[in-house]
Amino acid sequence: MEPRRAPYDARHALPLLVDAHRATTRILRVAYPFLAEGGLGADGTYIGSDVFSGGSFVYDPWVLYQSKVITNPNLLLAGVIGSGKSSTAKAFITRSIALGHRAYVPCDPKGEWTPVAEAIGGAAIQLGPGLPTRLNPLDAGTRPAAVQPDEWDKIVWSRRRALLGTLAESTLGRPMTAVEHTSLDLALETATTNPAPTIPDVVVALFDPDDDRAHRGGLHRNALLDDGREVAHAIRRLVHGDLSGMFDGPSTTEFDATLPMVSLDSSRIGSGGNDHALRLALACASSWMEAAVADPSGGQRFIVYDEGWRVMRDPALLRRMQEQWKLSRAWGVSNVLIIHRLSDLAAVGDLGSEARALAEGLLADCSTRIMLRQEPDQLARTATLLGLTDVEIATIGKLPKGRALWRLPDRSFVVQLVRHAREVELFDTDARM
Ligand SMILES: Nc1ncnc2c1ncn2[C@@H]1O[C@H](COP(=O)(O)OP(=O)(O)O)[C@@H](O)[C@H]1O
Ligand SMILES: [Mg+2]
Repeated sequence: MEPRRAPYDARHALPLLVDAHRATTRILRVAYPFLAEGGLGADGTYIGSDVFSGGSFVYDPWVLYQSKVITNPNLLLAGVIGSGKSSTAKAFITRSIALGHRAYVPCDPKGEWTPVAEAIGGAAIQLGPGLPTRLNPLDAGTRPAAVQPDEWDKIVWSRRRALLGTLAESTLGRPMTAVEHTSLDLALETATTNPAPTIPDVVVALFDPDDDRAHRGGLHRNALLDDGREVAHAIRRLVHGDLSGMFDGPSTTEFDATLPMVSLDSSRIGSGGNDHALRLALACASSWMEAAVADPSGGQRFIVYDEGWRVMRDPALLRRMQEQWKLSRAWGVSNVLIIHRLSDLAAVGDLGSEARALAEGLLADCSTRIMLRQEPDQLARTATLLGLTDVEIATIGKLPKGRALWRLPDRSFVVQLVRHAREVELFDTDARM
């Protein structure tokens, strides 16, 4: 077609002094973020509208992982309070469930996933002092068909052992020593003579080590007792302390992995800012959930940590989280971590500390970073950590509610979440506050 020529149609009297330039869209979409973008295709869950192109924005972590657009299926959401992090996660996840995915929410300190889980035919497990539900975090779970029995025994052993170690180290506030590890190993062995061991069994075995077992290991009972004393007191907190009644006996409920969504409502734990109780509860609850989720044939599942920053202050928990994330890819799991700002990750420890490295490792393990509105003082840090361009930075400083920068390894999108009236009602957290 002949170019249309009319007076004043954006021509200038002076010639344009820029060389003609030709580049592929691969290059151009980096040089001109948002504008030269072809989209992610139509395979996945509808999120909302791409603000710059006006088209639909569709996303599915497993589809993009398969097509190598992202290097892992994990997501990180960050934004100020009320910017729409939870709403975005809830919309995205409930809609994905329609495609056959499932979701488990082990960390829900505000209890705001309970109505969501119930509305879509899932279940919410309420945990708290005085409530009837008890979970045994040492439950073995069901052996997946693909795993041999002796291999399964080893998996169950190491899951139990890892959890007990995390509980002890988190309460002690330091790594366990070599002799403490030995004491805990022997106590767990003793407790495991019971086919369904509980935490009180382990505590009893720590306070009263088994003579024969000690001898067979070439150790003395009294030495074991001394060595394990601090660990025993640390783990005892779950039996007699502020968390008693929640994790200290046989489970009163079963994890139904066939439900579309299961959430653990921990809104009644850690009230008054007792984040340590909340962290221990999360360690127990997520270990209990893991037992059910560690099945590669279980389908594609999301594991959501809402208000994740509250549990990230703890190196022992971070270490467990990281180990679990490494495994989760093999299980078909996409982890969704929700925090306020990226400096939450730095706040867990000093530069060069293990905790800091672990937290920043989690960021690296999230290929998809969804940035909602950030405080102005956070912009520079966010830019450095995520390698954002000036245009992107300017964008995330003034995002309205529910609008986010979706940052994938070398692509970015600004997406406005579009919600159905029913979702608006279901995800409303203002009314409940
Ligand atoms: N796209 C949106 N448009 C209008 N209001 C929204 C939008 N997204 C979220 N909200 C409202 O803002 C409130 C806070 O959202 P929420 O997702 O709970 O924020 P956050 O988890 O970031 O603190 C909710 O009541 C929600 O209904
Ligand atoms: Mg929220």
